[in-house]
Amino acid sequence: MDCCETNQPFESLGEPFVKTYHIAALPGDGIGPECLDATMPVLDAVQSCCGISLKINRHEAGAEHYRKHGVAIPDEVLKDCLDADAVLLAAIGLPDVRKPDGTEVQPDMMMGLRRALGLYAAVRPVKLYPGVPSPLNTAGAGIDMVILRENLEGLFASFGGGCILNDHVATDTIVITREGTERVVDYAFQLSQRRKGRPIDGKRRVTCVDKANVFRSFAFFRKVFFDIAHRYPDIEADATYVDAMSLYMVTSPSDWDVLVMENQFGDILSDLGAAIVGGLGMAPSAEIGDNHALFQPSHGTAPQLTGKNVANPIATILSASMMLDWLGTRYDDADAISAGAAIESAVAGLLKDGHLRTADQGGNTSTSAISDAVTDAIHRNAGVAR
Ligand SMILES: NC(=O)c1ccc[n+]([C@@H]2O[C@H](COP(=O)([O-])OP(=O)(O)OC[C@H]3O[C@@H](n4cnc5c(N)ncnc54)[C@H](O)[C@@H]3O)[C@@H](O)[C@H]2O)c1
Repeated sequence: MDCCETNQPFESLGEPFVKTYHIAALPGDGIGPECLDATMPVLDAVQSCCGISLKINRHEAGAEHYRKHGVAIPDEVLKDCLDADAVLLAAIGLPDVRKPDGTEVQPDMMMGLRRALGLYAAVRPVKLYPGVPSPLNTAGAGIDMVILRENLEGLFASFGGGCILNDHVATDTIVITREGTERVVDYAFQLSQRRKGRPIDGKRRVTCVDKANVFRSFAFFRKVFFDIAHRYPDIEADATYVDAMSLYMVTSPSDWDVLVMENQFGDILSDLGAAIVGGLGMAPSAEIGDNHALFQPSHGTAPQLTGKNVANPIATILSASMMLDWLGTRYDDADAISAGAAIESAVAGLLKDGHLRTADQGGNTSTSAISDAVTDAIHRNAGVAR
């Protein structure tokens, strides 16, 4: 399928050319549908204010779908994800919906999507917005780093494999390949080139986070990292052990720009990253491949909050902002990049203001009220009367 259509066939008459991006939206389970519902008016607002056009196909998939139909992601939904310009996913999984082997359906669906779409780079921004309290008193210069998690290999390469011997021994094997490491490390340096450097002094810095002192696989990951680093002489490249990095993220969070690491290390450190910038409700993410991309909050389905209109939708709204930035960059579309920036700027203004906060931020503002406030701010900032 063509990557984008036009809803303005009048280019030859001098009318502006507007691409229509096809988005596959998966609300999922638990608080997922509420967070996606809160994001839709925000996307409507940037469509009316920023000259972009989206065709959003919403699909049921996830744990509830598995409970009802015995399958988490139907073939036609996977096909639409493959056909789409981008996938926007809220959250999937429910602890009480399990497969006969006792595991949840969530990893099956997430790993299935990552493998089918070739999403090798998970981009997890760790950004402390002014007005959001951090549990740290070490963030004087601010926190603005990205955890770049290799998303297909490492320990997760063994997903669906692994081995249990005689109820006494269990193994899962880490897999690191040159090709897989090169592409994610290359992405890390390109990401640093687009950023403003680390908060403390603006220096661009890409750090390899590993366990190269102990394991051959991580020594290899580090070697490949420095092979690629030579191509980017203007960016500082260094390496740190993962145990030390979990300390430095707390003691000197302003020192870091882009941290690139193996899959499982990224899974763990990105939750630590979320904790130092206001929690999972503030943590968006992008999962990028050569031909596809998926955007989702870093949080899960928070079943205990479901249906109460109290979940923080900001991580999902910021994931939509990252989606528009990625689409704009991929298709050289300045309007889509501006639309992504308009969402982030509206969220940042709201947070700086400090009046509206969901319960996880110490307030009592509802999910839908946050959505209304972000939507209003986008219209206000664009000077569009409602
Ligand atoms: N990618 C995904 O969709 C994804 C990721 C992680 C977990 N899960 C699934 O989610 C379910 C619950 O897992 P969990 O409890 O370990 O993780 P979780 O992220 O759902 O919740 C962890 C904690 O963060 C809070 N929280 C999360 N999102 C929030 C939000 N938007 N606003 C306010 N508070 C929020 C929760 O209340 C809870 O205290 C499980 O079934 C798990 O498999 C899905």
